[in-house]
Amino acid sequence: MKKLSLLLCGCMVHFLSFGQVAPAGLSIIPEPVKAARFAGQFLLPKRVIVEAGAQPEVAGVSAYLKKKLSTAPGSTVTIKTVAPTASIRLVLNKTADTLIGKEGYKLSVKAKKIVIRANEAAGLFYGVQTLMQLFPSEIESIEPVKNVKWAAPCVEITDYPRFAWRGLMFDVARHFFTKAEVKQYIDAMVKYKFNLLHLHLTDDEGWRVEIKSLPKLTTVGAYNVKKVGQFGTFTPPAADEPRTYGGFYTQDDIKELVQYAKDRFVDILPEIDVPGHSLAAVVAYPELSCTPGADKYVVNSGEPFMNWNGPHNTAIVDNTLCPANENVYTFLDKVVTEIAQLFPFGYIHMGGDECAKNFWEQSDAIKALMTRENLKTQQEVQSYFEKRLEKIVESKGKKFMGWDEIIEGGLGPNAAVMSWRGIKGGIEAAKMGHEVVMSPTTFAYLDYMQSDRVNETKIYATLRLSKSYEFEPVPDSVDAKLIKGGQANLWTEQVYNIRQAEYMTWPRGMAIAESVWSPKEKKNWNYFFGKVEKQFNRFDEAETKYAPSVYDPSFTAVRNPDNTLKITLTNEVEGLDIYYSFDNSFPDRFYPKYTGPIDAPKDATTLRVITYRGKKPIGRMVTMPLSELNSRIK
Ligand code: ACM
Repeated sequence: MKKLSLLLCGCMVHFLSFGQVAPAGLSIIPEPVKAARFAGQFLLPKRVIVEAGAQPEVAGVSAYLKKKLSTAPGSTVTIKTVAPTASIRLVLNKTADTLIGKEGYKLSVKAKKIVIRANEAAGLFYGVQTLMQLFPSEIESIEPVKNVKWAAPCVEITDYPRFAWRGLMFDVARHFFTKAEVKQYIDAMVKYKFNLLHLHLTDDEGWRVEIKSLPKLTTVGAYNVKKVGQFGTFTPPAADEPRTYGGFYTQDDIKELVQYAKDRFVDILPEIDVPGHSLAAVVAYPELSCTPGADKYVVNSGEPFMNWNGPHNTAIVDNTLCPANENVYTFLDKVVTEIAQLFPFGYIHMGGDECAKNFWEQSDAIKALMTRENLKTQQEVQSYFEKRLEKIVESKGKKFMGWDEIIEGGLGPNAAVMSWRGIKGGIEAAKMGHEVVMSPTTFAYLDYMQSDRVNETKIYATLRLSKSYEFEPVPDSVDAKLIKGGQANLWTEQVYNIRQAEYMTWPRGMAIAESVWSPKEKKNWNYFFGKVEKQFNRFDEAETKYAPSVYDPSFTAVRNPDNTLKITLTNEVEGLDIYYSFDNSFPDRFYPKYTGPIDAPKDATTLRVITYRGKKPIGRMVTMPLSELNSRIK
């Protein structure tokens, strides 16, 4: 043993442990707990033998590895249970290695052999993901690639996750995404060791999961009118516009997705968002509403239907289920019964966010409920609803989870909280002893724009990559054991297709992955961004879309005494040069270079900028109307 470590020290060229920056060439995201690099490399043979033991749970991992090695490199891969001459071994530990837990792994790459060891198949899968990131980026191609030296550097890696809950939420309700698209989303997320896909299955724009006992949820509730443009501003659909846009997953589809995810060590958390965000359900079954006339409602197609301004949302049409209506609890029992059977994951997320109360305030049934149950506020009315719902969920053997609004008015006894309005709700819930998942808008909202609004699909706010990278799920003031982990959320009001879903998710998803997997003390923005750029090549090979927004500068402006603008440009990334024009032409590196705040010429209307690294244009051509900057000055 001693001799071996001496030998290892002798040939080691780089060593990486906690707090150190990785040696050149190792660009693994999320950053492993411990990685050491050695001289030499493993060259992938044309014929690869993989020894994967006889345990059935490893078969999926070896099949995944086989597909990767046979696709782009075109190797012939044979999987054997015992093979002393194997060049790659996937080994399940006979005695558990307590350091690495359920999902950790140890990866050893030597010139002639690769060995991945883990306690469970999930760990082997994550070891394979790390191994893929050691091979050239072309390994991500879905077609054979010629003239690549399929080499991986010699390494010894010990790695395990910081959190058990490493999630991405995908809103398939605002826009419907097909089963194949959801699989595509899963394929990308597992490369960064996410293990939870939260599907937001119901909302005002559509109900996306078949409930056999309530067929109108999908025959009626899954379709709206196709509108294209800026969500929330559309003209109300005319009676003769076809309500054919949308779709839903049949129960067989869900079973297929659950299995597909499971094969990649991903759990699916279903979300049924009630009592607000429920217009699709109300349209299907108007008797669930407190409000007369709900039978005239239609599934929302992006026309205005809520006022989002002010401390409380108010609804223009009543998109809530009525807490004072016993039919609602019968309805929810049916829904939860089927959801519990379809999704093996231990939690069901029942929404609870942004529930408008203005129609409840008008309702005689709600007033009677408040008197009967001694409820003082509308928040307490929602809390009454949530506590009854929690009992329904628990009666099906599942844990109840909701957005942090479920704390208002009193939290049910065992509820788990997903904190989205910052981390405040999560802190409050954890202090009361409840489980918490952190997914704050501040760091983890993937629907937010990634750079200036002039470059992006417009939505409420901006969240840059570097800010996402600051995501820290455990606040100082709480018991860390109650923080199950973190996730990022992709809402899709303004996401019409899977390419845009990918654009919004990456690269911020990598920042979140590192926040929920890697040791906190290993995080380092500059080093991380260097790795992100290498990952971009992998995305190009896989033809997965990502946002180049990180290369766009930020703009701030003040007004000079003569009313012209003084404009400051800031880069998110070090080492880039910005070139600009005010004359409406398209700048390149022969134009003025930005070195400090610039004064706009009196009659200029447009500032155009582009970022370069050396001689290479790297950012997008950004066109900033000066009227836009002017309008931002208070
Ligand atoms: C949310 O973003 N309304 C949970």
